[in-house]
Amino acid sequence: MQVDGVAMRPLRARPGRDAIEVIDQRALPHRLVVERLRSVAEVERAIREMWVRGAPLIGATAAYGLALQAGADAGDSALGEAARRLGAARPTAVNLGWAVRRMMSRLLAVPPAQRRDAAWQEADAIADEDVAVNAAIGRHGLPLIEAVAARRPGPVHVLTHCNAGWLATVDWGTATSPIYRAHAAGIPVHVWVDETRPRNQGASLTAWELAQAGVPHTVIADNAGGHLMQHGRVDLVIVGCDRVTARGDVCNKIGTYLKALAARDNGVPFFVAMPTSTLDPTLHDGVAEVPIEERSPREVTHLAGRAADGAVVEVQLVPDGTAAANPAFDVTPARLVSGLITEHGIVAASASALLAIAARDGAGT
Ligand code: MRU
Repeated sequence: MQVDGVAMRPLRARPGRDAIEVIDQRALPHRLVVERLRSVAEVERAIREMWVRGAPLIGATAAYGLALQAGADAGDSALGEAARRLGAARPTAVNLGWAVRRMMSRLLAVPPAQRRDAAWQEADAIADEDVAVNAAIGRHGLPLIEAVAARRPGPVHVLTHCNAGWLATVDWGTATSPIYRAHAAGIPVHVWVDETRPRNQGASLTAWELAQAGVPHTVIADNAGGHLMQHGRVDLVIVGCDRVTARGDVCNKIGTYLKALAARDNGVPFFVAMPTSTLDPTLHDGVAEVPIEERSPREVTHLAGRAADGAVVEVQLVPDGTAAANPAFDVTPARLVSGLITEHGIVAASASALLAIAARDGAGT
Protein backbone atom coordinates (compact mmCIF):
# COMPACT_ATOMS: atom_id res chain seq x y z
CA MET A 1 0.00 0.00 0.00
CA GLN A 2 1.04 3.64 -0.19
CA VAL A 3 2.27 6.14 2.37
CA ASP A 4 2.20 9.71 1.09
CA GLY A 5 2.04 8.26 -2.41
CA VAL A 6 5.08 5.98 -1.97
CA ALA A 7 4.69 2.17 -1.96
CA MET A 8 5.51 0.79 1.45
CA ARG A 9 5.30 -2.43 3.44
CA PRO A 10 5.57 -2.93 7.18
CA LEU A 11 8.34 -5.50 6.68
CA ARG A 12 11.06 -5.89 4.09
CA ALA A 13 14.32 -7.76 3.74
CA ARG A 14 17.46 -5.71 3.18
CA PRO A 15 19.00 -6.48 -0.22
CA GLY A 16 22.28 -7.59 1.43
CA ARG A 17 20.43 -10.22 3.51
CA ASP A 18 22.04 -8.88 6.67
CA ALA A 19 18.95 -7.33 8.25
CA ILE A 20 15.25 -6.65 7.87
CA GLU A 21 13.44 -3.34 8.12
CA VAL A 22 10.14 -2.96 9.94
CA ILE A 23 7.81 -0.07 10.67
CA ASP A 24 7.86 0.49 14.43
CA GLN A 25 4.09 0.58 14.83
CA ARG A 26 4.32 1.96 18.37
CA ALA A 27 5.15 5.35 16.90
CA LEU A 28 2.13 5.58 14.57
CA PRO A 29 0.12 7.62 13.79
CA HIS A 30 2.34 10.47 14.98
CA ARG A 31 5.62 9.42 13.41
CA LEU A 32 6.63 6.94 10.70
CA VAL A 33 9.67 5.17 12.11
CA VAL A 34 11.50 2.39 10.27
CA GLU A 35 13.82 0.23 12.35
CA ARG A 36 16.52 -2.16 11.18
CA LEU A 37 16.65 -5.57 12.92
CA ARG A 38 19.88 -7.57 12.60
CA SER A 39 19.54 -10.57 14.90
CA VAL A 40 17.03 -13.05 16.18
CA ALA A 41 17.14 -11.32 19.59
CA GLU A 42 16.12 -8.02 17.99
CA VAL A 43 13.34 -9.72 16.04
CA GLU A 44 12.05 -11.47 19.15
CA ARG A 45 11.96 -8.14 21.00
CA ALA A 46 10.16 -6.38 18.14
CA ILE A 47 7.44 -9.05 18.18
CA ARG A 48 7.13 -9.21 21.98
CA GLU A 49 6.98 -5.41 22.38
CA MET A 50 4.64 -5.01 19.38
CA TRP A 51 6.82 -2.91 17.12
CA VAL A 52 5.32 -5.38 14.66
CA ARG A 53 1.95 -6.93 15.42
CA GLY A 54 -0.98 -8.59 13.69
CA ALA A 55 -1.09 -12.34 13.18
CA PRO A 56 0.26 -12.66 9.61
CA LEU A 57 2.95 -10.02 10.12
CA ILE A 58 4.41 -11.58 13.25
CA GLY A 59 4.59 -14.92 11.40
CA ALA A 60 6.47 -13.42 8.46
CA THR A 61 8.75 -11.40 10.76
CA ALA A 62 9.63 -14.51 12.77
CA ALA A 63 10.47 -16.31 9.52
CA TYR A 64 13.03 -13.60 8.74
CA GLY A 65 14.27 -13.87 12.33
CA LEU A 66 15.20 -17.48 11.60
CA ALA A 67 16.88 -16.37 8.36
CA LEU A 68 19.02 -13.94 10.37
CA GLN A 69 19.85 -16.76 12.79
CA ALA A 70 20.80 -19.05 9.91
CA GLY A 71 23.26 -16.39 8.73
CA ALA A 72 24.89 -16.28 12.18
CA ASP A 73 24.84 -19.95 13.21
CA ALA A 74 22.87 -22.50 11.20
CA GLY A 75 23.54 -25.45 13.50
CA ASP A 76 20.59 -27.54 14.73
CA SER A 77 20.82 -26.37 18.31
CA ALA A 78 21.18 -22.63 17.53
CA LEU A 79 18.26 -22.77 15.12
CA GLY A 80 16.20 -24.80 17.59
CA GLU A 81 16.80 -22.26 20.35
CA ALA A 82 15.94 -19.36 18.01
CA ALA A 83 12.73 -21.14 16.97
CA ARG A 84 11.78 -21.67 20.61
CA ARG A 85 12.37 -18.00 21.49
CA LEU A 86 10.51 -16.64 18.49
CA GLY A 87 7.60 -19.04 18.92
CA ALA A 88 7.17 -17.93 22.53
CA ALA A 89 7.30 -14.19 21.83
CA ARG A 90 3.49 -13.94 21.69
CA PRO A 91 1.13 -16.79 22.55
CA THR A 92 -2.21 -16.26 20.79
CA ALA A 93 -1.74 -15.76 17.05
CA VAL A 94 -1.14 -19.19 15.54
CA ASN A 95 0.64 -17.75 12.49
CA LEU A 96 3.77 -17.33 14.59
CA GLY A 97 4.09 -21.05 15.36
CA TRP A 98 2.97 -21.90 11.82
CA ALA A 99 5.75 -19.81 10.25
CA VAL A 100 8.40 -21.06 12.67
CA ARG A 101 7.44 -24.71 12.05
CA ARG A 102 7.45 -24.17 8.29
CA MET A 103 10.90 -22.58 8.41
CA MET A 104 12.34 -25.31 10.64
CA SER A 105 11.07 -28.17 8.52
CA ARG A 106 12.63 -26.54 5.45
CA LEU A 107 15.93 -25.79 7.18
CA LEU A 108 16.48 -29.06 9.01
CA ALA A 109 16.02 -30.89 5.70
CA VAL A 110 19.20 -29.38 4.21
CA PRO A 111 22.85 -29.42 5.38
CA PRO A 112 23.90 -26.46 7.58
CA ALA A 113 26.01 -24.94 4.79
CA GLN A 114 22.89 -24.48 2.64
CA ARG A 115 20.62 -23.21 5.36
CA ARG A 116 21.26 -19.49 5.10
CA ASP A 117 20.17 -19.32 1.45
CA ALA A 118 17.29 -21.72 2.06
CA ALA A 119 16.11 -19.62 5.01
CA TRP A 120 15.98 -16.35 3.10
CA GLN A 121 14.19 -18.08 0.22
CA GLU A 122 11.60 -19.61 2.52
CA ALA A 123 11.03 -16.38 4.45
CA ASP A 124 10.60 -14.54 1.12
CA ALA A 125 8.11 -17.20 0.06
CA ILE A 126 6.11 -16.78 3.28
CA ALA A 127 6.03 -13.01 2.77
CA ASP A 128 5.10 -13.25 -0.93
CA GLU A 129 2.38 -15.81 -0.22
CA ASP A 130 0.91 -13.55 2.45
CA VAL A 131 0.55 -10.76 -0.11
CA ALA A 132 -1.15 -13.11 -2.60
CA VAL A 133 -3.44 -14.60 0.07
CA ASN A 134 -4.58 -11.19 1.27
CA ALA A 135 -5.18 -10.00 -2.28
CA ALA A 136 -7.38 -13.08 -2.81
CA ILE A 137 -9.28 -12.37 0.44
CA GLY A 138 -10.00 -8.94 -1.01
CA ARG A 139 -11.36 -10.45 -4.22
CA HIS A 140 -13.58 -12.90 -2.35
CA GLY A 141 -14.82 -10.33 0.15
CA LEU A 142 -15.63 -7.64 -2.41
CA PRO A 143 -19.01 -9.17 -3.42
CA LEU A 144 -20.24 -8.72 0.18
CA ILE A 145 -19.77 -4.97 -0.18
CA GLU A 146 -21.03 -4.92 -3.76
CA ALA A 147 -24.24 -6.66 -2.69
CA VAL A 148 -25.04 -3.94 -0.14
CA ALA A 149 -24.19 -1.20 -2.66
CA ALA A 150 -26.52 -2.81 -5.21
CA ARG A 151 -29.42 -2.82 -2.73
CA ARG A 152 -29.51 0.89 -2.00
CA PRO A 153 -27.79 4.19 -2.74
CA GLY A 154 -25.25 5.79 -0.41
CA PRO A 155 -22.10 4.49 1.21
CA VAL A 156 -21.74 0.94 2.49
CA HIS A 157 -20.93 1.16 6.21
CA VAL A 158 -18.44 -1.48 7.34
CA LEU A 159 -17.44 -1.79 10.99
CA THR A 160 -14.02 -3.20 11.85
CA HIS A 161 -12.18 -3.87 15.08
CA CYS A 162 -8.48 -3.55 15.88
CA ASN A 163 -6.12 -3.34 12.91
CA ALA A 164 -6.43 -6.16 10.41
CA GLY A 165 -5.05 -3.88 7.72
CA TRP A 166 -1.83 -3.88 5.72
CA LEU A 167 0.14 -2.97 8.83
CA ALA A 168 -0.90 -6.34 10.30
CA THR A 169 0.19 -8.30 7.23
CA VAL A 170 2.87 -8.00 4.56
CA ASP A 171 0.41 -6.09 2.34
CA TRP A 172 -3.31 -5.43 1.76
CA GLY A 173 -4.46 -6.56 5.20
CA THR A 174 -7.13 -9.19 5.68
CA ALA A 175 -10.30 -7.41 6.88
CA THR A 176 -9.35 -4.25 5.00
CA SER A 177 -8.54 -5.97 1.72
CA PRO A 178 -12.19 -6.12 0.49
CA ILE A 179 -12.59 -2.50 1.63
CA TYR A 180 -9.58 -1.31 -0.35
CA ARG A 181 -10.87 -3.21 -3.40
CA ALA A 182 -14.34 -1.69 -3.08
CA HIS A 183 -12.85 1.78 -2.75
CA ALA A 184 -10.65 1.22 -5.81
CA ALA A 185 -13.69 0.00 -7.74
CA GLY A 186 -15.49 3.26 -7.02
CA ILE A 187 -18.01 1.79 -4.57
CA PRO A 188 -18.72 4.35 -1.85
CA VAL A 189 -17.59 2.73 1.37
CA HIS A 190 -17.33 4.17 4.85
CA VAL A 191 -15.61 2.41 7.74
CA TRP A 192 -16.55 2.60 11.41
CA VAL A 193 -13.20 2.13 13.14
CA ASP A 194 -13.39 0.79 16.70
CA GLU A 195 -10.70 2.57 18.69
CA THR A 196 -9.72 -0.82 20.24
CA ARG A 197 -8.67 -0.10 23.75
CA PRO A 198 -6.31 -0.61 25.42
CA ARG A 199 -3.64 -0.31 22.71
CA ASN A 200 -5.87 1.58 20.28
CA GLN A 201 -4.84 -0.25 17.13
CA GLY A 202 -8.04 1.02 15.47
CA ALA A 203 -7.59 4.66 16.37
CA SER A 204 -3.83 4.71 15.76
CA LEU A 205 -3.27 2.26 12.92
CA THR A 206 -6.48 1.52 11.00
CA ALA A 207 -7.45 5.19 10.92
CA TRP A 208 -3.96 6.09 9.66
CA GLU A 209 -4.04 3.41 6.97
CA LEU A 210 -7.50 4.35 5.74
CA ALA A 211 -6.55 8.03 5.64
CA GLN A 212 -3.46 7.19 3.56
CA ALA A 213 -5.70 5.31 1.13
CA GLY A 214 -8.35 8.02 1.07
CA VAL A 215 -11.08 5.70 2.41
CA PRO A 216 -13.75 7.62 4.37
CA HIS A 217 -13.82 6.46 7.98
CA THR A 218 -14.92 7.48 11.46
CA VAL A 219 -13.27 6.37 14.70
CA ILE A 220 -15.74 5.33 17.38
CA ALA A 221 -15.40 4.40 21.03
CA ASP A 222 -15.39 0.65 21.42
CA ASN A 223 -18.79 0.71 23.08
CA ALA A 224 -20.53 2.58 20.25
CA GLY A 225 -20.91 -0.29 17.77
CA GLY A 226 -24.04 -1.82 19.32
CA HIS A 227 -25.83 1.52 19.28
CA LEU A 228 -24.92 2.13 15.63
CA MET A 229 -26.18 -1.34 14.69
CA GLN A 230 -29.50 -0.76 16.49
CA HIS A 231 -29.99 2.34 14.35
CA GLY A 232 -29.23 0.62 11.02
CA ARG A 233 -25.93 2.42 10.58
CA VAL A 234 -23.75 -0.67 10.10
CA ASP A 235 -24.24 -2.83 6.98
CA LEU A 236 -21.51 -5.33 7.60
CA VAL A 237 -18.86 -6.21 10.17
CA ILE A 238 -15.50 -7.50 8.90
CA VAL A 239 -12.76 -8.34 11.40
CA GLY A 240 -9.49 -10.25 11.30
CA CYS A 241 -8.47 -13.20 13.44
CA ASP A 242 -5.51 -14.56 15.37
CA ARG A 243 -6.57 -18.19 15.59
CA VAL A 244 -9.59 -20.08 14.26
CA THR A 245 -10.33 -23.51 15.67
CA ALA A 246 -11.34 -26.63 13.75
CA ARG A 247 -15.02 -25.97 14.44
CA GLY A 248 -14.82 -22.27 13.51
CA ASP A 249 -14.49 -20.47 16.83
CA VAL A 250 -12.66 -17.20 16.14
CA CYS A 251 -10.06 -15.69 18.45
CA ASN A 252 -9.37 -12.02 17.73
CA LYS A 253 -8.61 -8.78 19.56
CA ILE A 254 -10.43 -8.26 22.86
CA GLY A 255 -13.88 -6.79 22.23
CA THR A 256 -14.56 -8.71 19.01
CA TYR A 257 -16.99 -11.05 20.80
CA LEU A 258 -19.16 -8.16 21.98
CA LYS A 259 -19.38 -6.87 18.40
CA ALA A 260 -20.45 -10.31 17.21
CA LEU A 261 -23.18 -10.45 19.88
CA ALA A 262 -24.47 -7.03 18.91
CA ALA A 263 -24.34 -7.95 15.22
CA ARG A 264 -26.38 -11.12 15.82
CA ASP A 265 -28.96 -9.23 17.89
CA ASN A 266 -29.39 -6.70 15.10
CA GLY A 267 -29.22 -8.96 12.05
CA VAL A 268 -25.94 -7.45 10.85
CA PRO A 269 -23.69 -9.92 8.95
CA PHE A 270 -20.48 -10.65 10.88
CA PHE A 271 -17.62 -11.83 8.65
CA VAL A 272 -14.08 -12.82 9.59
CA ALA A 273 -11.20 -12.49 7.13
CA MET A 274 -9.08 -15.62 7.63
CA PRO A 275 -5.90 -16.57 5.79
CA THR A 276 -5.63 -20.34 6.20
CA SER A 277 -2.33 -19.83 8.04
CA THR A 278 -4.58 -18.63 10.91
CA LEU A 279 -6.52 -21.90 11.09
CA ASP A 280 -5.51 -24.17 13.99
CA PRO A 281 -7.12 -27.56 13.30
CA THR A 282 -5.61 -28.98 16.50
CA LEU A 283 -8.05 -27.00 18.69
CA HIS A 284 -11.85 -27.27 18.85
CA ASP A 285 -13.41 -25.33 21.72
CA GLY A 286 -11.94 -21.85 21.31
CA VAL A 287 -13.06 -20.50 24.67
CA ALA A 288 -11.55 -23.42 26.55
CA GLU A 289 -8.46 -24.04 24.47
CA VAL A 290 -7.03 -20.92 22.81
CA PRO A 291 -4.22 -19.41 24.90
CA ILE A 292 -5.14 -15.80 25.60
CA GLU A 293 -2.26 -13.35 26.00
CA GLU A 294 -2.35 -11.33 29.21
CA ARG A 295 -0.50 -8.07 28.66
CA SER A 296 0.76 -5.48 31.08
CA PRO A 297 -1.92 -3.72 33.19
CA ARG A 298 -0.07 -0.51 32.33
CA GLU A 299 -1.63 -0.64 28.85
CA VAL A 300 -5.01 -0.18 30.59
CA THR A 301 -4.03 2.30 33.27
CA HIS A 302 -2.01 4.60 31.00
CA LEU A 303 -2.53 6.14 27.58
CA ALA A 304 -0.06 7.74 25.16
CA GLY A 305 -0.93 10.51 22.74
CA ARG A 306 0.31 13.70 21.11
CA ALA A 307 0.20 16.83 23.20
CA ALA A 308 -0.52 20.30 21.80
CA ASP A 309 3.22 21.01 21.49
CA GLY A 310 3.67 17.90 19.30
CA ALA A 311 5.43 15.82 21.93
CA VAL A 312 4.13 12.28 22.51
CA VAL A 313 3.30 11.97 26.18
CA GLU A 314 1.89 9.26 28.41
CA VAL A 315 -0.77 9.99 30.99
CA GLN A 316 -2.24 7.98 33.84
CA LEU A 317 -6.02 7.37 33.66
CA VAL A 318 -6.80 5.75 37.02
CA PRO A 319 -6.28 6.54 40.69
CA ASP A 320 -2.84 5.65 42.03
CA GLY A 321 -2.55 1.99 42.86
CA THR A 322 -5.65 0.85 40.91
CA ALA A 323 -5.51 -2.80 39.82
CA ALA A 324 -6.11 -3.50 36.14
CA ALA A 325 -6.39 -6.65 34.05
CA ASN A 326 -5.50 -6.85 30.38
CA PRO A 327 -6.62 -9.95 28.46
CA ALA A 328 -5.61 -9.07 24.90
CA PHE A 329 -7.91 -11.39 22.92
CA ASP A 330 -11.32 -13.03 23.15
CA VAL A 331 -13.14 -15.83 21.38
CA THR A 332 -16.26 -15.46 19.25
CA PRO A 333 -18.11 -18.79 19.02
CA ALA A 334 -18.65 -20.11 15.49
CA ARG A 335 -22.43 -19.76 15.82
CA LEU A 336 -22.06 -15.95 15.73
CA VAL A 337 -19.91 -15.91 12.57
CA SER A 338 -21.71 -15.40 9.24
CA GLY A 339 -18.73 -16.67 7.25
CA LEU A 340 -14.95 -16.80 6.94
CA ILE A 341 -13.43 -14.93 4.00
CA THR A 342 -10.44 -17.05 3.01
CA GLU A 343 -8.07 -16.96 0.06
CA HIS A 344 -10.12 -19.84 -1.41
CA GLY A 345 -13.49 -18.12 -1.06
CA ILE A 346 -16.06 -17.57 1.67
CA VAL A 347 -16.65 -20.66 3.80
CA ALA A 348 -18.90 -21.45 6.74
CA ALA A 349 -17.47 -21.32 10.25
CA SER A 350 -18.08 -25.05 10.60
CA ALA A 351 -16.04 -28.19 11.18
CA SER A 352 -16.84 -29.66 7.77
CA ALA A 353 -15.93 -26.52 5.80
CA LEU A 354 -12.72 -26.03 7.75
CA LEU A 355 -11.72 -29.67 7.43
CA ALA A 356 -11.85 -29.25 3.66
CA ILE A 357 -9.69 -26.09 3.88
CA ALA A 358 -7.18 -27.76 6.22
CA ALA A 359 -6.89 -30.80 3.97
CA ARG A 360 -6.28 -28.54 0.98
CA ASP A 361 -3.61 -26.40 2.60
CA GLY A 362 -2.07 -28.64 5.25
CA ALA A 363 -2.92 -25.93 7.81
CA GLY A 364 -1.46 -26.43 11.27
CA THR A 365 1.30 -28.69 10.01
O1 MRU B 1 -2.36 -7.53 19.49
P1 MRU B 1 -2.34 -7.36 17.99
O2 MRU B 1 -2.33 -5.93 17.57
O3 MRU B 1 -1.24 -8.17 17.36
O4 MRU B 1 -3.72 -7.97 17.52
C1 MRU B 1 -4.06 -7.94 16.17
C2 MRU B 1 -5.40 -8.49 15.89
O5 MRU B 1 -6.11 -8.93 16.76
C3 MRU B 1 -5.81 -8.57 14.45
O6 MRU B 1 -7.19 -8.39 14.30
C4 MRU B 1 -5.44 -9.97 13.91
O7 MRU B 1 -4.12 -10.26 14.20
C5 MRU B 1 -5.68 -10.07 12.46
S1 MRU B 1 -4.45 -9.23 11.53
C6 MRU B 1 -4.73 -9.43 9.90
